[in-house]
Amino acid sequence: MSDTYILGIESSCDETSAAVVRSGEQVISNVVLSQFSTHKPYGGVVPELASREHLRNIVPVVRAALEQAGHTYESVDAIAVTRGPGLAGALLVGLSFAKAVCFAVDKPLIAVNHLEGHIHAVLLEQRQSGHYDLEFPVLALVVSGGHTHLYLAERKDESWTYQNVGHTRDDAAGEAFDKVAKLLGLGYPGGPIIDRLARFGDPTAVKFATPQIKHRDRRDHCQPAESGAHFDFSYSGIKTAVLRHFELNHMQDAIERRRKELVQIAKPTIDDYRRLTDQPTIDLVASFQRAVVHDLVTKTLQAAAEYQVATLLVTGGVAANSELRETFEREGAQAGLKVYFPSRPLSTDNAAMIAAAAYPKFLLKDFAPMDISAEAGLVLK
Ligand code: KG4
Ligand code: ZN
Repeated sequence: MSDTYILGIESSCDETSAAVVRSGEQVISNVVLSQFSTHKPYGGVVPELASREHLRNIVPVVRAALEQAGHTYESVDAIAVTRGPGLAGALLVGLSFAKAVCFAVDKPLIAVNHLEGHIHAVLLEQRQSGHYDLEFPVLALVVSGGHTHLYLAERKDESWTYQNVGHTRDDAAGEAFDKVAKLLGLGYPGGPIIDRLARFGDPTAVKFATPQIKHRDRRDHCQPAESGAHFDFSYSGIKTAVLRHFELNHMQDAIERRRKELVQIAKPTIDDYRRLTDQPTIDLVASFQRAVVHDLVTKTLQAAAEYQVATLLVTGGVAANSELRETFEREGAQAGLKVYFPSRPLSTDNAAMIAAAAYPKFLLKDFAPMDISAEAGLVLK
């Protein structure tokens, strides 16, 4: 079979990205333009600003990806684009652009679910390093700013299907990282900052109660597709516990001072964060991270045992977290599981994962009609 080159486009949240991927197994180019500096003053993603930035950046980003790959719109075999889930206005920019290109150069359009993209980021890199045999059953944890979802992934020939066996009841794990960093005056996005700062703190300093959620079991479900145990997550309680902790310990003035000083620094380094953060706050950050990681790993391994899976894929922005990776590696190995992550650049949003997820659909000729619409709440099945 000859090589297939797919141009992927991703614009679901605050990264405009385009990539060329060969046959779902080799990244030829992957350009990611982050909007961090646009959203930083607001401490989170502002949807209207995100759409405007995507509009501004989509053409140069796609051109750069094609140029770096030595390709043109005419030379690629298909255009893949994120259809959802994500911010409606942001998704529309990528989808409209992809449709226009397909129409102009007469190429097939492939619509990809962003969450499936995160799962295929792992598979793409595994194939890239020569590892083609995936041992099933496979459980995937997609843990990002918008999602904390567990899926059982199945493959029949080229066709992939997913069964959701767990999700967050409130905040996603990445959202909790971002909100806690904002509460503590550490800026945005919170995950990478907390990750780096936590290394200097005592993770046992503050005790957080583990989120208690009654797991629904098979008796609660009448849908056959949803039979089996469910493993849900919840992170809004821990965020409130952080808030209560610093209120009780009168940390507000220090937080305000830090917030003001950090705003003055364009790109704060880890030394800046350490200089501006007192030890009790660093301990609080380390304890928060430990609690979230412990909960994510424990529930995922419980689900892995319940469904007797052989392989665990951990992906999405929070999969870049050092403590999460180390803990999954250690405890996954103890449980006899094969655990795979994407590299850090492919953990967070990127278009290479969209082009990779599109490859099996290309083989199946699963092309999208030109009147397809973006879906902010698109479900993965
Ligand atoms: O997958 P992603 O780029 O976008 C979504 O689909 O949401 O994930 C972004 C999320 C943000 O909440 C960010 O704070 C978090 O991933 N994140 C991290 C780390 N790097 C990014 N969280 C913890 N540790 C990290 N190193
Ligand atoms: Zn994502």
